Amino acid sequence: MLSKFERYPLTFGPTPIEKLSRLTKYLGRDVEIFAKREDCNSGLAFGGNKLRKLEYIVPDAIASNADTLVSIGGVQSNHTRMVAAVAAKLGMKCRLIQESWVPHEDAVYDRVGNIMLSRIMGADIQLVDESFDIGIRDSWVAALEDVKAKGGKPYAIPAGASVHKFGGLGYVGFAEEVRMQEKQMGMKFDFIIVCTVTGSTHAGMVVGFGADGRERQVIGIDASYTPAQTKAQVLDIAQKTSALVGGKAVTADDIILLEDYAYPAYGVPSKETVQAIRLSAQLEGMMTDPVYEGKSMQGMIDLVQKGFFPRGSKVLYAHLGGAPALNGYSYTFRNG
Ligand SMILES: Cc1ncc(COP(=O)(O)O)c(C=O)c1O
Repeated sequence: MLSKFERYPLTFGPTPIEKLSRLTKYLGRDVEIFAKREDCNSGLAFGGNKLRKLEYIVPDAIASNADTLVSIGGVQSNHTRMVAAVAAKLGMKCRLIQESWVPHEDAVYDRVGNIMLSRIMGADIQLVDESFDIGIRDSWVAALEDVKAKGGKPYAIPAGASVHKFGGLGYVGFAEEVRMQEKQMGMKFDFIIVCTVTGSTHAGMVVGFGADGRERQVIGIDASYTPAQTKAQVLDIAQKTSALVGGKAVTADDIILLEDYAYPAYGVPSKETVQAIRLSAQLEGMMTDPVYEGKSMQGMIDLVQKGFFPRGSKVLYAHLGGAPALNGYSYTFRNG
């Protein structure tokens, strides 16, 4: 589905799929759990899901003759860290808007983890006191204008690299890669678990797995806490991406987004999220974060325990990265 699109390699290649044997045994419900390790996909600043998306966006940025990548996210955004890393790798400048999306007050929240890494990679960072919103923001538009006013040539990358014409392509590729790995493994996954916020990861998967009729087996776990807006954005990106790659029609019923795990707010972990982070760390040595993957891990565990997956199901947890944000939650984990 992707052969006609130019791809600039930023990742090591296909990401490994591993069986989470101890978590599978712990849950003991005759459901086998696997993880696809998108968190280990690159040597660029700890990697993560944004690189798959950016692989299809970078050729457009280079063709535009831009000299500055301009993007936006929360203070502990993984996405802006990835844009900073890509800018460094390409020899471009990087301008980042980091908004106060998370009502969280760890003493060093704006100095450690993702934002620290972006600063080390040379990004020009502006902190803006605006709350969570996955839409297009004035602060980002103003930053683009400012780069131009100073004689630069900006290239605009929206939050999460999602609402970009090529934002959904990377996770179409993820589905194609899973199909290839399934052949090698001699098995098929019945469900794919994905954490959903700005939407293009989930949307790309819906299009990619739609090619073999599995679009409704992609189970999105909302971490935005604004699920109506997130679901609408997933649908919109999936429809546009499907049209771009020549896929089939996507309807609202194809977008499965579970809303029960994002509480109490975007970026704030519940007691259950913290338990899920500890559980996967202590059973598998696999680190998940309080903003995204801890919530999808919590959701997957709860769904297994509730009997959501029929007996014998093979469930693939897409681990999308994000562990650097843990540094911003040192108080939560002060005793382990
Ligand atoms: C670690 C991690 N998981 C999940 C997501 C959600 O992906 P998306 O924004 O494409 O919905 C993000 C980014 O927002 C992320 O950084």
